Parts: sequence; structure tokens; C-alpha cells
Amino acid sequence: MTPLIITIDGPSGTGKSTAARQLAKRLGYLYLDTGAMYRAVGLKALEKKIPLTERGALVKLAARSRITFRVDPGHRLRVLLDGADVTEAIRRPEVSEAASRVATIPALRRALVRQQKGLGARGRVVAEGRDTGTVVFPSAPLKFFLTASAKERARRRLNDLRKMGHPASLSQVLEEVKRRDLRDRHRTASPLRVPKGAVRIDNTGLKSNQVIAIMVDYAQRILHRNRRRGIHGRRAV
Ligand code: DC
Repeated sequence: MTPLIITIDGPSGTGKSTAARQLAKRLGYLYLDTGAMYRAVGLKALEKKIPLTERGALVKLAARSRITFRVDPGHRLRVLLDGADVTEAIRRPEVSEAASRVATIPALRRALVRQQKGLGARGRVVAEGRDTGTVVFPSAPLKFFLTASAKERARRRLNDLRKMGHPASLSQVLEEVKRRDLRDRHRTASPLRVPKGAVRIDNTGLKSNQVIAIMVDYAQRILHRNRRRGIHGRRAV
């Protein structure tokens, strides 16, 4: 039996989260936001005032952290760190930067990847991040890689920040986007790469519902194929 796991990877600001959340909702799957886990560890490090250069301490911190997900009555994903709701706190700009730095530590990644594999073990998951199709679920039957121009991604990020009450300028956000891209692509531990066999979608001029429609179409084709082959059962899709 092949439980259907769908992975969505790509750089920041490509609309992965919206796509993953909507796709999971349409299919009735779990949305696994792996970036939220790196963010939660980044937040905890800042709160505990652990310097981001103290790699050993950060690995211990990640291994001792319990990161879980819950869906609220409005179908929004809540992120819990050691039982406390950190959904909003992990989106702060300084946490984005800390997350990007802790994500470069190989042993820390291994600790979080173990937790991610556990959360996806039963299938019926839409996993989203930078390495979900290459490292976390390399044999997932359906993988997507989203891209968009850096300027478009900075514009989207700026909108999100303003909505959250964090003023910033486009040039400042574009700089940050480029800096994080460089770090994500060139780090030695699980650099951002297009997974083998991934469907690439450049969504620069697309609306989120157009992207989701493409993804749902791919997912349904696989589900039909599995049904024709007689792979049944809630977890066997
Ligand atoms: O997707 P995001 O912006 O919430 O991710 C936060 C940081 O974590 C980002 O710098 C990339 C990193 N990350 C990662 O290295 N691997 C993942 N699977 C997910 C996120």
C-alpha cells in the first residue's frame, strides 16, 4: 500500500504555505508546515538568549522541543511549542532570520526531520518546506516545486509583514529575501534543490487558486490511478 504524501518545496514567498494549506483542506489531509518547526526552534533560541553561533546548544534545544500542530475551528493551522501557541510569534522578522540560521545546522535538521517523518508516517499528508521532497519524503509519489521572481516574492512578503503590523520597505525586504535564498541554496546541509520528478510551477503571474487547481488536478489523477490499481483504504491513497 502506498500512502499518498504530497511535498511542496521552493524558496520563501512562492505561496507554498497557502497552496499546501488549501490542498490539504481539499483532500482532507494533514498540512505539515516544516518551516514552522525551524521557526519554533529559532524563537526558542531567541527567548532563551542562546547565541545562534552555539551550534551544540541549539541542537540540544531542538531535540528537547516538542513541536505539534493543531487545526483551529476556522481551519487555520496553530503551531504549539512545548504546549504553548506560538503561531503568531514565529512570523516575526527576527524569527525568520533566526530560523534560516538554525536551519543550517546538520544535527538540528536531523532532529527535526525525524519528527517530520513521524508526523507523516501514516500518509495523507501535504508537507511543505525546502527539503520535503529531497530529504524528508524522497519517495513521495507527488512532488511540487514552486518558484516566482524575487521581486514578486518580496512584494508578497511585504504585504504579509504590513498586515501583521511590521512596517518595512520593498528594498529592505528584497534584500532579506535574496540573503535568505542564498543561505537556503548554498548551505551544505540539505540545500534547497528541485526534487527529482517534481512538477515545477512558476507562479509569478498566477493567482493562488490557479496554482491550487493545478495541484488538485495532479493529486486527483494519482488518486484515480491508485483506485484503478485497486489500492483502497483511507491511508492507501
Ligand atoms: O518556509 P519558512 O519561511 O517558514 O521557513 C523558515 C526557515 O526555515 C527558512 O529560512 C528556510 C528553513 N527551512 C528549511 O531549511 N527546511 C525546511 N524544510 C523548511 C524551512
